[in-house]
Amino acid sequence: MMKDQEKSRQRLIRELMELREKAQQLESQQRHVEEALKESQQQLHHAQKMETLGTLVAGVAHEINNPINLIMYNLPLIQKIWSDLLPVLMEKKERVPHQKFGGFTYEFLEDNLTQLVADMDMAANRVAKIVSDLKNFSKQSNVAEKSTMQVNAAVKNAMRLAQTTLRKSGVRIQPDLDENLPLIKGNLQSIEQIILNIIINAIQAIDHMDGIIRITTGFQRKDARICLQITDNGSGISDAIADKLFLPFVTDKKAEGGTGLGLSVTYGLVQAHGGDISFETREGNGTTFTVLFPTLLKREAIKILIVDDDQTIRKMLIEALTLNRDRPYLIEEAANGIEATIKLGTYRPDLLILDIFMPEMDGLEVCRIIKNEPELSDMKVIISTGYPEHPKLDEMAKMGFSNVIYKPFDLLEFVKKVEPILATA
Ligand SMILES: Nc1ncnc2c1ncn2[C@@H]1O[C@H](COP(=O)(O)OP(=O)(O)O)[C@@H](O)[C@H]1O
Ligand SMILES: [Mg+2]
Repeated sequence: MMKDQEKSRQRLIRELMELREKAQQLESQQRHVEEALKESQQQLHHAQKMETLGTLVAGVAHEINNPINLIMYNLPLIQKIWSDLLPVLMEKKERVPHQKFGGFTYEFLEDNLTQLVADMDMAANRVAKIVSDLKNFSKQSNVAEKSTMQVNAAVKNAMRLAQTTLRKSGVRIQPDLDENLPLIKGNLQSIEQIILNIIINAIQAIDHMDGIIRITTGFQRKDARICLQITDNGSGISDAIADKLFLPFVTDKKAEGGTGLGLSVTYGLVQAHGGDISFETREGNGTTFTVLFPTLLKREAIKILIVDDDQTIRKMLIEALTLNRDRPYLIEEAANGIEATIKLGTYRPDLLILDIFMPEMDGLEVCRIIKNEPELSDMKVIISTGYPEHPKLDEMAKMGFSNVIYKPFDLLEFVKKVEPILATA
């Protein structure tokens, strides 16, 4: 009787502990989801802002287009008429020397009118440039036709388009393109424009004689994306504008005719390709723009082997890992060192999560075996243990296995620890 009571008491305690663990798991899952939600809300807000601006700007550009064209077509006509009229006026000056025109004397007109009209022509051209940039800016939301294409082809075209500007500025360009890139689905012209905008900005940021722009392309296996990087050794981006660089009209080149639309167009085009753009800058020391494009390749699953004699822990880890749905996982389990080494004979995981104390063969033994297996040298290993001070940990660290997580796990902590390790897998 007593025994039965004791048994059921223990069962209750066990169940209670399991429940508590489950509650902790849920709580950390919830935190994770909340964080992700907040981030995507911010992105959405930004995207909506850009879209509204795009529509607004398209309207304004359209309205200004016709009047500015009229001015631009007629100004040269006036210039021509004026140059024909000038000798006639000079003849008249002989006969009626004190006549005024619109309140101005012959001398004033002779000295200044040509310049005034030329200034108007320049101003009109500046407005036309802004309008054309604005039209580009608003076009970003419909990067209509996409087809399968090579990012390198766009890079080469953009470099060709930038050639004149490069030659004039004396800046050298140094491409380092991975010729085995997978294809992407994109609009060739848009991608050329993305690259060209970044190159032109880079050229404009260089004010010394050793200007060099490096362009690299490469494939990132971890997320099946193409990474395009454009690095210059120019002035760097000033803190004052760095945090709003992709917004329209942000420029520090107003005096030189900059409209501040280049990067916002670029941003929109990258978004329209499902890509990402970011930059890193060292003031006075150059800037790197990184653009990531999703490819048509399926993302390769990350292979993980979880070795632990406690089934609950294995299940918990699997759950934590699959919380991150960005990437597919292929997860295998083993309940002790022997099972693990047998699996490792045929299964080559990117990541091994290894418990230390297990029946049959412990984690330390497994480490020794891995160490002597060159084919497993790329595999990342995380040791999981409930004994932070145990001497076996030192032995493992000496062999180079120094990534440790401690039980009991906080799932969020676990995911935080694993993600950067997986990112390089
Ligand atoms: N590679 C770079 N180095 C330094 N500053 C840059 C670079 N690229 C962009 N910028 C800064 O970002 C601003 C916005 O660029 P952009 O949107 O192309 O407009 P604009 O070129 O017309 O000024 C530039 O005025 C410049 O200050
Ligand atoms: Mg620009």
